[in-house]
Amino acid sequence: MTLTRHPEPDASRALESLLAFWAEAGVEASYEDEPVDRLARGAARLAPRSPAVAASARPSPQASLAGAMPSLSAAVDQARVLAAAANELSELEAAITAFDGCALKSQGASRVVFSRGNPQGPIMIIGEGPGADEDRQGMPFVGRAGNLLDKMLAAAGLPDQAFIINTVFWHAPGGRPPTAEEQAVCLPFVERAIALVNPSVLFLVGGASAKAMLKQDQGILSLRGRWFDWRSSDGALDVPAMPSLHPALLLRQPAAKKNAWSDLLALAERLDRPRLEP
Ligand code: URA
Repeated sequence: MTLTRHPEPDASRALESLLAFWAEAGVEASYEDEPVDRLARGAARLAPRSPAVAASARPSPQASLAGAMPSLSAAVDQARVLAAAANELSELEAAITAFDGCALKSQGASRVVFSRGNPQGPIMIIGEGPGADEDRQGMPFVGRAGNLLDKMLAAAGLPDQAFIINTVFWHAPGGRPPTAEEQAVCLPFVERAIALVNPSVLFLVGGASAKAMLKQDQGILSLRGRWFDWRSSDGALDVPAMPSLHPALLLRQPAAKKNAWSDLLALAERLDRPRLEP
């Protein structure tokens, strides 16, 4: 039997402080120099000892099917059914939590990141996907980018006016942008959130949000600052939407803040106009 040795208290404090230092510096994952094929290692360890053992260890076809990831269209259909059954935001969050059809859920995310903000507010902000801070706290835009977003909203006279979600509800490994497939399976939940909140405008921050929501191929620099007519997949919802720059980009390129600021002022100005009923 192998005994696990626990580090001495001093060593464990030093380790914690080192990890805190790396986390503060933005490092959220560490990788080995060379890729490791853990599937091959696992397969070698599971190599059958005798044909009889091998036969009993083999999963039945039914079991393999049950464990398999559903196809994209099956996952989207399942998300639609779950989303449509949610009549309140709390039910929608529970439905997302129960949903296993998004690959991100099993790629290291620690929890669902659904929403924060004011569901009665006129603005719905849709970001790209939760970062590492959001994964830790379970709410969107709570890190440095979120802090900047809050400050900009307050400066534009729009504090507490926004409800905030993302195009996907789980943190992607290493903070990469979500894929089109990950966004597609989460879209029914995003659309249901829009239907339940019924915002006057959508503010789509970042290229991955703008492209997914508006089905546009152009980059965010040509999309930003323009009004689009966002429509739900079933055509029942129709909301004016403006793409803008992601606050994380503004932290890296402060010179771009003037563009984001002018987008926010255009948004505030639109909210002052009476809403045109169809
Ligand atoms: N970036 C996003 O797009 N969303 C978040 O929630 C945080 C950072």
